[in-house]
Amino acid sequence: MLIEEIKLHDFRNYGELTLHPHPGVNLLFGQNGSGKTNLLEAVHYCALGRSHRTSLDREVVRKGENMAAVGVTVRGENSRCQIAVKLTPGESRKKQVYLDRKRASRLSDLMGRLQCVIFSPEDLMLVKEGPAIRRRFVDMMLSQLSSSYFVALQQYSKALEQRNAILRQCKKSGKTDAGMIVVFEEAMAAPCQVIIPMRRKILALTAEIAAEQYCAISGRPEEAFSMRYAACLEGEDIPERMRRQWEQGRREDMLRGTTGFGIHREDLALTLHGREMKLFASQGQIRTAALSMKLAQLEVCRQVTGNTPVLLLDDVMSELDMTRRTRLLKEISGVQTFVTCTDESDLDGCDDRRSYRVRMAAEGTASISETSSGQPVPARTIEDPDFS
Ligand SMILES: Nc1ncnc2c1ncn2[C@@H]1O[C@H](COP(=O)(O)OP(=O)(O)OP(=O)(O)O)[C@@H](O)[C@H]1O
Ligand SMILES: [Mg+2]
Repeated sequence: MLIEEIKLHDFRNYGELTLHPHPGVNLLFGQNGSGKTNLLEAVHYCALGRSHRTSLDREVVRKGENMAAVGVTVRGENSRCQIAVKLTPGESRKKQVYLDRKRASRLSDLMGRLQCVIFSPEDLMLVKEGPAIRRRFVDMMLSQLSSSYFVALQQYSKALEQRNAILRQCKKSGKTDAGMIVVFEEAMAAPCQVIIPMRRKILALTAEIAAEQYCAISGRPEEAFSMRYAACLEGEDIPERMRRQWEQGRREDMLRGTTGFGIHREDLALTLHGREMKLFASQGQIRTAALSMKLAQLEVCRQVTGNTPVLLLDDVMSELDMTRRTRLLKEISGVQTFVTCTDESDLDGCDDRRSYRVRMAAEGTASISETSSGQPVPARTIEDPDFS
């Protein structure tokens, strides 16, 4: 997959920007706070319709403006697609997606058009923190692979929210009237038929590749890294058995005011030599594990869809020692990559690349110039009428 063009309009500290990136490595370097991560975030919006670091769309709209837009032109194996995401947080339709200039009716239509994998220092949390962050990794990965997974997840989450709202009322009022709960349990059970088998299948493949990647990056085969999906249910007949579990747990859930069982409680168990990584692993081992999971995501996507995703590496080069950096660069050859760092020399030894300096002018607007020619990247107004 190749991004041929990126366009930004009033996104974060960018006014107007049009960029035609290199098919290999694109190095974005510049001082802290200049706008490097903002550009990666814009690409992430075009892939998943959301930021990788905030759930509040209004934060990404340029200060003082009401609307932000980001767009990319993507070339796949046998396709070409223009994607645009327009954010108007103050209006009733807060987020609009355009595919080849036509408005898409659902966010799920966007999934899979641009596949991207992002790796940033915050990804250490994948190993260090609680299950929610690992579930998010799983869901983002699987949503990009299958829009039916994304739709199923939306349906499940909505029904879960509604069941939990009733449970909270029950807890508050002390009444144990099941009423609507059954309806929402039905609505939660059906999507599990899509979600659990897909988690099982894809995460088994991801685990296998992540273990290999860990070995390759660390260069120490004796450090056995394992990632295991702990499903809430094994076996077949998933919807029926899920329903039964919720029925049996209803009284307890009412007392607790929340749903204690389901796919929203699943986790990935990460171990090194069979010991829980969170408790025993060193900082470097944690970093290697997180990076292995991300590279595994890239490889799984390549195997499942036949398309190589775009890789976004935010500020990770300076965190890796020379050996790991060289191994990583070898791993990403042939993958269109956007790398941010504060120092251009962090990528010495990588020839198939283009470097861009990101600067922030006094009035707070970011600009990008290609350092080979020193020419600023043209700031063009987005002509797409849908953006105006
Ligand atoms: N909505 C917004 N409107 C205008 N400017 C914004 C907005 N949101 C963030 N910024 C500005 O963007 C800048 C941060 O950009 P970004 O996170 O891309 O920095 P960076 O180059 O990645 O820095 P670092 O090297 O520290 O990671 C800050 O200067 C911040 O003030
Ligand atoms: Mg940054």
